Parts: sequence; structure tokens; C-alpha cells
Amino acid sequence: MVKLETERLYLQPFKKLDSSRIQELANNKEVANILGLPHPYLLKYAEDWIDTHPELIKKGVEYPLAIVYKNTKEIIGTINIRVDHNNNKGELGYWIGRDYWGNGFATEAVKQIISFGFNELNLNKIWAAAISRNKASIMVLEKAGLQKEGTLRQNKLLLNNYEDVEVYGLLKVEFTKQDSCK
Ligand SMILES: CC(C)(COP(=O)(O)OP(=O)(O)OC[C@H]1O[C@@H](n2cnc3c(N)ncnc32)[C@H](O)[C@@H]1OP(=O)(O)O)[C@@H](O)C(=O)NCCC(=O)NCCS
Repeated sequence: MVKLETERLYLQPFKKLDSSRIQELANNKEVANILGLPHPYLLKYAEDWIDTHPELIKKGVEYPLAIVYKNTKEIIGTINIRVDHNNNKGELGYWIGRDYWGNGFATEAVKQIISFGFNELNLNKIWAAAISRNKASIMVLEKAGLQKEGTLRQNKLLLNNYEDVEVYGLLKVEFTKQDSCK
């Protein structure tokens, strides 16, 4: 079983029982609007989503993990790495429940899943996309060591607006270099 640990967090597979907590956290307009999630977010969406996880993880296609705050044992968000085996690269996705923003949790989780991606999955590249106005997400990617690769103009249709999207990436050679500088 994949279980990652940081100073304050566990990153671990979801259990079916976690559906109601995911519904509670995802049923927030600020989170939903950025991610393009339906609002209201129904329990069934969370259940259906969690049902897909065992197979994805078993096949090594995606690693959707719950972000658990060790202090309270509560799930505070989710993180995922989607693997493109043909190109040996992984795409990051993550969100944190609104009440927990601004505590460095996303950065802590992203750094850990990046280590997992390079050290355990032996990926060559990890990348992520964030809509250009999502400054918090861009900060997270920069703090985790990814660098900007470009802007895709009007690349995503979100709530009737065509949004510019920033693409960020980190190569294994750069990660290894960062690691050896510590
Ligand atoms: C983006 C998100 C994951 C960040 O989570 P978080 O745990 O609050 O992130 P962190 O605390 O690790 O870091 C956020 C950084 O962005 C900064 N930040 C927040 N809002 C900002 C803004 N409007 N402009 C500039 N910086 C901003 C914070 O100050 C912090 O940087 P600091 O630690 O140097 O002060 C969270 O806001 C979220 O889930 N948003 C909705 C979903 C989403 O955007 N997911 C990512 C899709 S690509």
C-alpha cells in the first residue's frame, strides 16, 4: 500500500468511508470553481470517484491520495499523480479544503509526492498545470521546485471563461541536483 509521510501529514489511499468527508470539503464554491467540480457536490460523486481508486493504483496509472493532518487525523485535501507511462512522466493534481488554506499543507504534500514520483516510480519528469489567476497554486509549484515552461492561452473553459493556463515542470536531473544541494 502506498503510504507517504511528511512532518505534519500522511498521504494515503482513500477508504470508501472517506466519501462523506470528501463531499464536505469539495462542496465549497471556492474549491469547486477552480477545479471545475459540480456544485453542489453530492456524496455519490465522492463515492464513485473513490471506487475507481483501487484499480488505478493497482495498475500504476494514478495515485489519488488523501492528505491527512496527523494532529487531528482528519482528511484536509487530496493529491494525485497521474502517470503517462509512454513518456515516463507524471502530472500532479491537488486541492486543500478551504478552512485549511495558507498553512503550507499543499506545498508539503506536493514535495512529498514529487519524491515518490522520482524515487519510487522512477519518473523522468513531473509537471502540473494551473490556471494563470490561481496564484496560490503557482506559488505551491514554485516552492516545490518546478519551473515555468510556458503559458497556454485560453486553454481551459471554466464557468464560461476561457482561462490561460501555466505549465510547470521538474526534471529528474533537476530534482537530483536539488537533493544533493541540501
Ligand atoms: C492552491 C491550493 C492547493 C493551495 O493550498 P495551500 O495549502 O493553501 O498552499 P500553501 O499554504 O502550501 O501555499 C500557498 C502559497 O500561496 C500564497 N498565496 C495564496 N494566495 C495568493 C495570492 N492570491 N497571490 C499570491 N500568493 C498567494 C500563500 O501565501 C502561500 O505562499 P507562502 O507560503 O510563501 O506564504 C489551495 O488554495 C486550493 O486547494 N485551491 C483550490 C483548488 C486548486 O487550486 N487546486 C490546484 C489546481 S492546479
